Amino acid sequence: MAGDKAEVLMIGQMAPMIIDGVAKAFTLHRLWEAPDRDRLIAELGPRLRAITAGGPVHDRVDGALMAKFPKLEMISSFGVGYDHVDAKWAGEHGIVVTNTPDVLNEEVADTALGLLLCTVRELPQAERHLRAGKWTSGDYRLTASLRGRRAGIVGLGRIGKTIARRLEAFGLPVVYHGRNAQADVGYRHYPDLVAMARDVDILIVITPGGAQTRHLINAKVLEALGPNGILVNVSRGSVVDQDALIAALKERKILAAGLDVYANEPHVPPELTAMEHVVLLPHVGSASVHTRNAMNQLVVDNLLAWAAGKPPLTPVPETPWPPKRK
Ligand code: NAP
Ligand code: 8YV
Repeated sequence: MAGDKAEVLMIGQMAPMIIDGVAKAFTLHRLWEAPDRDRLIAELGPRLRAITAGGPVHDRVDGALMAKFPKLEMISSFGVGYDHVDAKWAGEHGIVVTNTPDVLNEEVADTALGLLLCTVRELPQAERHLRAGKWTSGDYRLTASLRGRRAGIVGLGRIGKTIARRLEAFGLPVVYHGRNAQADVGYRHYPDLVAMARDVDILIVITPGGAQTRHLINAKVLEALGPNGILVNVSRGSVVDQDALIAALKERKILAAGLDVYANEPHVPPELTAMEHVVLLPHVGSASVHTRNAMNQLVVDNLLAWAAGKPPLTPVPETPWPPKRK
């Protein structure tokens, strides 16, 4: 039963910092622990006004779930990407969705550059060579290099720009693809992704996921990137046609790939784990204690702002503030 505190439904298990922060200020309902989920949803249905979601399993919050809570006002989601929430539906029904932007830009950009360096210079493979005791029998082979390369960023948003600054410091020319040319940036804009892939030999993908970007990186783009090309994906697995990527890697249509995200996480196809010219990270783009704490705090702070009747700190564009309730 609810006390004086507002009630919040947490869909899947989130970080202890979020659980503690929410439980301190609100009456917390833990859907993932409920012996009968449907019963808890039915019980809360008529009165629940806030949800929090987006743990490691990216609990889906779709229209069918939101419709079960006619008084729902607020969804505080973890992660800057919110492709697990139907934000369009939420916006159309006067529900505000918040995410956790900006606080992770530097961390994810660090990860992207780390992944790029690992991929081009084969650092994990060289380390495996040493650990396997093979150094005593011979040096690790010479690798490809960043020198002389051009980088194309697919999605020059908050994180994309942070990556671009790092690439510039490495001495690499940067260009970008997005739906819009950005007046305030000095990098060349390519409206045509295939044309950009043809002109660069590094593609770093950092768009949102969801239907609009599904398989943006397809066989044609990989073909254009070419046999010296390196693909780094730190966006969402859905943005890359994973089967086309596996085929391109097998047929050496591109040189190598560095991946942080996959089509069906946490499952990674054995074709990828078997290949030596890929570097595979388990979706760790933002996964430092420092940055996850900042993201966790933002999830809680958005709920606190909502409960105090203040504007949300970081609403997503599909759900502007103040909401228009139908
Ligand atoms: P953002 O500021 O909204 O930037 C997104 C960029 O993608 C924009 O420049 C946008 O430009 C472009 N874009 C959007 N839709 C596109 C489309 N259909 N085709 C081409 N470009 C498109 O987002 P952000 O904060 O940088 O975050 C980006 C994404 O990174 C997140 O949504 C999340 O999926 C991913 N991410 C992954 C990790 C990880 O751990 N691996 C961590 C954080 C974030 P236009 O509007 O001009 O197209
Ligand atoms: C998180 C992310 O790792 O913010 C995002 O969009 O992908 C990452 O920061 C992810 O949300 C964990 O579930």
